[in-house]
Amino acid sequence: MKASLEALGAEIQAALAGCRTDDDLERLRVEYLGRKGRLTEIMRGVGALPPEERPVIGELANQLKRHVDQRIVVLREHWESERRARALTNEKIDVTLPGRTLPRGHSHPLTTVLDEAIGILVGLGFSVYEGPHIEDEHHNFTALNIPADHPARDMHDTFFVDQSHVLRTHTSPVQIRVMENQEPPIAAIVPGPVYRHEVESVKNSAMFHQIEGFLVDRRVTFGDLKGVLALFVQRMFGDDTRVRFRPSFFPFTEPSAEVDISCVICRGARQLPTGEPCRVCKSTGWLEILGSGLIHPEVFRAVGYDPEAVSGFAFGMGVERMAMLKYGITDIRLFYQNDHRFLRQF
Ligand code: PHE
Repeated sequence: MKASLEALGAEIQAALAGCRTDDDLERLRVEYLGRKGRLTEIMRGVGALPPEERPVIGELANQLKRHVDQRIVVLREHWESERRARALTNEKIDVTLPGRTLPRGHSHPLTTVLDEAIGILVGLGFSVYEGPHIEDEHHNFTALNIPADHPARDMHDTFFVDQSHVLRTHTSPVQIRVMENQEPPIAAIVPGPVYRHEVESVKNSAMFHQIEGFLVDRRVTFGDLKGVLALFVQRMFGDDTRVRFRPSFFPFTEPSAEVDISCVICRGARQLPTGEPCRVCKSTGWLEILGSGLIHPEVFRAVGYDPEAVSGFAFGMGVERMAMLKYGITDIRLFYQNDHRFLRQF
């Protein structure tokens, strides 16, 4: 009995030495130590041995079982720590490597300028309104004191949709729509696209954007207009920006003025620090940015207001023009071509 137990011990040693994986170990454990394992069977048979053999064989069998149990644990742990060491060397991460950056989008430069201008005017107390892009002649022209035979209709190269509808040539028709629907006091701005039947060029696009602004109340003066616009251009183009009002004509304002700002490039000096003439303002020191005036009594009459009781100012500015001045862009068409080389720069 003792001899066969020793032979079994040697066999198990050899089998252990041949084990390479956790699965091998498990198979070995089942074969020798499982419920029907060969060592288990021997241990179960110890009770049937002659009494003098029992303690010796029992002790030997127990020793062998403990030894095998231990070897299995040790081998498992050894392999596990080897695996971990391998993982540590093979799977190391260089946390100092630069990350993978995803391309990040941003607003179109026109949207940025539009948002900025709207933000400034809303901060001054104006509310934002919108109107239809397809307008009837009444709102686009007649109610704005531009009757059918008025030469001012020629100034607006108009896209006609049908006999009596046009693509709005300016945002001013929304003045009429807002005033038709509410009583003064009103402080409104109207951002949005407008359309003109023009040959596209460096300066002209058949679609561009305006921001209309108007304020109606009692005793509104030209001084109010001047104050609002001066503040606006200083916020938009910098604190040292000056404004200049030049007499002009619009059928829907009286008096009317075109507003210039001191040149954003030469800051009004007419020449660059190098002595070169400033090409942006053509050495005038000024840039035209908007049309404005006090709202014409005929406009108030068209919406049913009493021109004796109320007064107001209005202005309309080109968003592309402001963006071009702000960023030094020389071709308006760049805004619409969606060329990434252009857009990426903002
Ligand atoms: N609607 C005018 C234009 O498009 C601009 C303007 C608006 C002028 C309001 C005066 C008052 O040219």
